[in-house]
Amino acid sequence: MKELLLTKGIVKAFGGLVAVNNVSIAVREGMVTLLIGPNGSGKTTLLNVCTGVLKPDAGRVIFKGRDITNWPSHRIYELGFVRTFQIPLPFHTQTALDNVLAAMRSPGEHPLRALLRGTWERKEEENVKRAFEILRKVGLDDHWDRPAYALGGAQLKLLELARALAAGAKLIALDEPIGGVDPAFADEIFSYVRRLKDAEGLTFFVIEHRIDVAAPYADYVYAMDRGRIISEGKSDEVLNDPKVIEVYIG
Ligand SMILES: Nc1ncnc2c1ncn2[C@@H]1O[C@H](COP(=O)(O)OP(=O)(O)OP(=O)(O)O)[C@@H](O)[C@H]1O
Ligand SMILES: [Mg+2]
Repeated sequence: MKELLLTKGIVKAFGGLVAVNNVSIAVREGMVTLLIGPNGSGKTTLLNVCTGVLKPDAGRVIFKGRDITNWPSHRIYELGFVRTFQIPLPFHTQTALDNVLAAMRSPGEHPLRALLRGTWERKEEENVKRAFEILRKVGLDDHWDRPAYALGGAQLKLLELARALAAGAKLIALDEPIGGVDPAFADEIFSYVRRLKDAEGLTFFVIEHRIDVAAPYADYVYAMDRGRIISEGKSDEVLNDPKVIEVYIG
């Protein structure tokens, strides 16, 4: 399968601390790739480099065959690599539907379009229809008119997924998607990730340190420790790797 995202020898240091040390990974199209590792192992820093939040000290980031190293994050987003927190946080007083609509129009809408009123109104109607379809895909259609503040933790995560879909994402990166979510809903969120992957042909790059919950949903796993990739392979291979066991238990 084709690689949608590649990193080649990424290095990122903060002063004397090498947070990411020569990391090369591949996120294949149509797969859920999981990055695990204990606190402070460099997972978020790697994602920040990939999404243009941080500039690497060395290495390249390739997305859709293009070298996007050092691109500003909004251009990476427009190319279809969406990281959930990058979509402006939901407007808390606006409804779920309006939040999806906002993500839909954000980048790339031509200002001249707004002048052609007929076109604009038709477009608006289509957008609402599409927004409803997207809400249905994450199981939030019954909540379309609830303000974001009235949604539960898991529902907010699903709304973020809906917004990524609305933004036209090809690759969605989730940094600890079940952090702060009631454990009972963790499986529900990952089920939607898998369902969207299958139904929409989306690709996911998921960072998690709760390996027990995340691993069953992953097609491929990388394990990171102290800035380096220490293991990679299928979930069970990585979870049974003595190097990984040592990091988590040892
Ligand atoms: N902006 C920064 N300035 C200085 N040090 C940083 C910065 N960001 C991260 N670090 C350090 O780099 C290391 C890796 O941090 P990072 O946040 O990437 O880890 P992580 O694997 O995402 O951890 P967690 O599971 O806790 O989210 C840590 O030692 C952290 O303290
Ligand atoms: Mg992190």
